Amino acid sequence: MSDNQSTVSVERDGAIAWLTLDRPDQINAINLRMRSELPAVLETLEGDDTIRVIVLRGAGDRGFCAGADIKEFSKVGPLVEERRLRRQSPWVGAFDRVSKPLVAAIHGFCLGGGLEMALACDIRLAAPDAVFGLPEVNLGVIPGYGGTQRLSRLVGMGHAQDLIMTGRRIDAGEALSLGLVTRLEASRDALTESARGLALNLAAKPPAAMACAKEAVRAGWDMDITRGLAFERDLFTFLSATEDRLEAAAAFREKRAPSFTGR
Ligand code: COA
Repeated sequence: MSDNQSTVSVERDGAIAWLTLDRPDQINAINLRMRSELPAVLETLEGDDTIRVIVLRGAGDRGFCAGADIKEFSKVGPLVEERRLRRQSPWVGAFDRVSKPLVAAIHGFCLGGGLEMALACDIRLAAPDAVFGLPEVNLGVIPGYGGTQRLSRLVGMGHAQDLIMTGRRIDAGEALSLGLVTRLEASRDALTESARGLALNLAAKPPAAMACAKEAVRAGWDMDITRGLAFERDLFTFLSATEDRLEAAAAFREKRAPSFTGR
């Protein structure tokens, strides 16, 4: 890939956006350009009412993403300045600003920042050749795109410490058993098919209910149970006043397929 080409590509398939990390020669390593292009694309898709689900995947045979571009690692400047720059540009936070379902379809290497991006998605599917790991300690750092926080919340502190402190790689079977992915497909083709089927399924659902389900679960991560239950009640009340809720009930009564508008 030449330097002029974009690091991400988007293919629209009805209400599904296939968002592809597109640096296959470098196993889709996250360079500076990807760190600015990816949030911009996510923002565009979030604002596009015709898109209801986003599927993230990696281009090429080698994998989903091999993490931060190590070739761009350079000498650090004054630490105060470095810290300020990092706080200003939490690019992976762009995933948290997406209210639509985010599906990660993972094949091959899914390492470092690649795994952290996958962790920022809602549902993770894997091909049998998928390999996962957070190898940052081997490079003298720690996961810096949310890995230390999201992985432990997802799989528990013990498994997270095992993976983060050893930097070891695990295969797709172990990832499934940990709950790091929730679906393991039989082949790469099956992964694509399954991701598409899942995306179609999610795209057909009432968008506001999708967004609130996502928000309730994600925001609840940071809440105690009492506040979480109150938050859930508020979102439920909000949804009970939507046109799509009435449409769903009418369609059930009239024995027809519902048609949701997002209102
Ligand atoms: N940053 C930049 N380039 C990367 C990269 C990364 N994180 N991961 C892979 N690449 C590049 C390689 O430099 C190589 O490019 P080249 O052909 O121009 O030399 C190409 O992708 C293929 O990788 P290669 O290492 O030759 O393949 P491999 O099968 O021998 O090993 C990995 C694959 C993923 C095990 C190995 O590339 C690796 O360990 N990558 C780094 C993973 C990592 O530590 N990520 C976290 C960063 S914080």
